[in-house]
Amino acid sequence: MQKLYSIALALIGAVGLMNLARIDRTNPAVDPAQAIEAHTRVPSNVAGIFRRACQDCHSDRTEWPWYSAVAPFHWLMSADVYAARSHMNLSAWGRYTPEERTNRLIGICEMVVGNNMPLWYYKPAHYPSAWLSEGDKKAVCEWAKEEAVRLQVTQNLSSEKGDTKR
Ligand code: HEC
Repeated sequence: MQKLYSIALALIGAVGLMNLARIDRTNPAVDPAQAIEAHTRVPSNVAGIFRRACQDCHSDRTEWPWYSAVAPFHWLMSADVYAARSHMNLSAWGRYTPEERTNRLIGICEMVVGNNMPLWYYKPAHYPSAWLSEGDKKAVCEWAKEEAVRLQVTQNLSSEKGDTKR
C-alpha cells in the first residue's frame, strides 16, 4: 500500500512538473483581408469543411479545447498547431506568392484525397464534424483544382500585360 501511495505521488509530481513548461496558445490577431476567403472564391460547402476539419490547426482561429491546457496534450497540440500554421495558414493566404498558393492548393487536394488530413488523431475528438465524406473530399479537390487553374490564368494574363508594355 505504502508503495502504491509513493508511486501515485511520484506520478502526480511528474505531471505537475510537466505542466510548468508552457507554450503560448494566444491566437495571433486575425486580419480578414489576408484570409483565404478574401483571396479565392471559396464556395460555402468548402469553407464549411475548412472550418470544421482544418482551421483549428491551419488558421489563426484555433479553438483550443480545455485539455490543450494540460501537459502532455498541451505540448503535442501546440506543436501541431505551430507546425500546421507554418506549412499552411488559411488566415494568411494573402501573404503567399502565387506559386506558394498553387503548391498549397495541390497539397490540400492530395492530403484530403489521401486521407492524410485532418490528422487521424484529431478525428475522434471531433466526431463527426471533422470526418470528411467522399463528397466532401471531391468538393475540396474540385475547388482546389479550379482555383489553381484560375491562379495560373491570372498569372499568364498579367505577364502578357507586362509583355505589351515593352
Ligand atoms: C490536428 C491538426 C491538423 C488538422 C486538423 C489538419 N492539419 Fe494539415 N497539417 C498539420 C500538421 C502538423 C502539418 C505539418 C505536417 C508536417 O510536419 O509534415 C500539416 C500539413 C498540411 C499540409 C501540407 C502543407 C505543405 O507544406 O505542403 C496540407 C496541404 C494540409 N495540412 C492540409 C490540411 C487540410 C486541407 C485539413 C483539413 C481537411 C487539415 N490539413 C487539417 C496539422 C493539421
